[in-house]
Amino acid sequence: MECIVRPAQSADCDHLMGMIREIAEYHNLLDEVKINSQVLSADGFGGDPFYQCLVAELAPEQEGKQGQGIGKKLMSEVAKLALARGCVEMKFTVAEWNVRALAWYRQLGAQDKTEAGGWHCVELGGEALQRLAGDRR
Ligand SMILES: CC(C)(COP(=O)(O)OP(=O)(O)OC[C@H]1O[C@@H](n2cnc3c(N)ncnc32)[C@H](O)[C@@H]1OP(=O)(O)O)[C@@H](O)C(=O)NCCC(=O)NCCS
Repeated sequence: MECIVRPAQSADCDHLMGMIREIAEYHNLLDEVKINSQVLSADGFGGDPFYQCLVAELAPEQEGKQGQGIGKKLMSEVAKLALARGCVEMKFTVAEWNVRALAWYRQLGAQDKTEAGGWHCVELGGEALQRLAGDRR
């Protein structure tokens, strides 16, 4: 399959939004998607970008499918960027029930830190984040 991996551009934001919705729906979290493609574009392609993104592009007549090496190619490009910038690891958050994705990360060589060392992914958001930011002690 012909697939190129390239840096995302502002013009990709509608597609990126589609993928964000798709993965949110897969996790039954569609109600939690608050962002839209305008905000995504401003956040990623303004003067002080919050994030960077790579996209995999397939030849127009081919439909993207799982299990054809696209995920691995994307991850390999992210790994190259990470090493070039002096990073020593990549971290992912995976739902416990998503055994296929967990198996996939493992076969890339990743270690499940919850299983191996009891580390949990801890998140501070919503009201707790607002409360903490407003606490001036
Ligand atoms: C998980 C996901 C990102 C993998 O991407 P993909 O493009 O389907 O995977 P690839 O085709 O690049 O897989 C490459 C290698 O992994 C192997 N592989 C694929 N699925 C696997 C699985 N479930 N378990 C173990 N190995 C797997 C392939 O055989 C291939 O091995 P090889 O390089 O030795 O030939 C993709 O299937 C996906 O989007 N899944 C649904 C959403 C999801 O769960 N995302 C992750 C959320 S944390």
